[in-house]
Amino acid sequence: MTNLNIQGYGDNLTINNIRLGDLSPSDHENIENEKGGRNYKPLENVVVSHVQDSSTLICRKPSENGVKAFIEEELIDGLCCYSAVNQGQLNQTIVEAVVTHLTKEKLPTVPRSIRHKYMSAFLLAATGITGMDRVVPKVAGVEAPELMFKLSRRWGYEVKGIPENEAIVVAAKGNFHGRTMTAVSLSDDPDARNNFGPFLPGIELVPFNDIDALKTLFEQRGDKIASFLVEPIQGEAGVIVPSDNYWKEVRSLCDDHNVLLAMDEVQTGFGRTGANFAHELFEVKPDLIGCGKAAGGGILPVSFVAGKDEVIGVLTPGSEGSTFGGYPLGAVVGIYAIKVLVDEKLADNARIRGSQLMSHFENMQADFPDKIKEVRGKGLLTAFEMQNSPHLDGHHVSVELLKNGVYAKETHRSTVRIAPALTIEAWQIDNIAEAIYDVIKGL
Ligand SMILES: Cc1ncc(COP(=O)(O)O)c(C=O)c1O
Repeated sequence: MTNLNIQGYGDNLTINNIRLGDLSPSDHENIENEKGGRNYKPLENVVVSHVQDSSTLICRKPSENGVKAFIEEELIDGLCCYSAVNQGQLNQTIVEAVVTHLTKEKLPTVPRSIRHKYMSAFLLAATGITGMDRVVPKVAGVEAPELMFKLSRRWGYEVKGIPENEAIVVAAKGNFHGRTMTAVSLSDDPDARNNFGPFLPGIELVPFNDIDALKTLFEQRGDKIASFLVEPIQGEAGVIVPSDNYWKEVRSLCDDHNVLLAMDEVQTGFGRTGANFAHELFEVKPDLIGCGKAAGGGILPVSFVAGKDEVIGVLTPGSEGSTFGGYPLGAVVGIYAIKVLVDEKLADNARIRGSQLMSHFENMQADFPDKIKEVRGKGLLTAFEMQNSPHLDGHHVSVELLKNGVYAKETHRSTVRIAPALTIEAWQIDNIAEAIYDVIKGL
């Protein structure tokens, strides 16, 4: 028989005799190492406890005098959960919507096999914001590229007329689409793939931002290619922004070869890059858009695929779905995540605060050209890349930033991404930039 006793809330939450408020940062680390999957390597000696304002986390660090188990310190959130919290931590509009719907409206939990009234509202909001014909709700971010992959294949067979089982999906080198078998089959990152094979067939990779490579592939195998499934700006690769004309040229190549353009906007969407969706910056319209992360307003995992009628139209009952995709609470959160994106003009703020941050970065690069190789970004999806030298290490910079009250994380060895909430204020951007400057100066 299981002898498990779970009581209380917050610091008084007690699992058997272990009370959360009594655990030191290293106690947390030990429990994770013993009982978790060890599939992450979080920053050491810090445990996030709660939120102070939309961009400030309260975190616990080891107490210096050792009397208490920890001390609490403010941390500016420079990552906002890999762009899942564009609307800011605990956005009031979204929290109130959740509380109102759970406590006053008595929101049920039902699957898609029975209609609930918030689905229509979600579909109206999500087609409205994306300008697409149809939307399919999902849960995790990775499910958006996963579904775009399936849609590409089915569209390829049923609409384009590709012979059975011969469809090809093209992706970009350096991509990141998540962690499912489809996503790692698309990936060329050895850490993500090692010993997970065999991988999905029917995938070809081309270099990102290389129109000639794509043209050559389309000319050779275009009749079998269903889609080019790609991030408009590569996020995990280190914020790689393609050249201005790239997407227009890709769009016209896709049109010439009857290939779908399926854009994974899980990280770049919802105002992040200074437009509601990054493809708008490049003045192209994809056939499919995958959204996630901030689609759930930083509160719940909500994702969806939006697309043109002729593509999403290939779905039939039984061919796609998930228990929690578009369930009432997910739909409500999704609606208010979109409302905040629009009402709080998140894309505008990303553009304004993004250019403020970029000018800080440019000054830093001018002051330390021997340390900073490149600064890049759109809106508030920004990064600086350091020169290739052993002492210029992204992880070390993240650890030092933590000591200076900023949470940020390296993407590759020498690149650090800064992508705070889109509600961030000017003085907070200045504080982030100052902390970065001080850390770089000290290297
Ligand atoms: C472009 C892109 N697609 C998909 C994903 C996967 O999202 P999730 O981790 O929520 O499954 C990510 C996550 O970083 C991403 O950046």
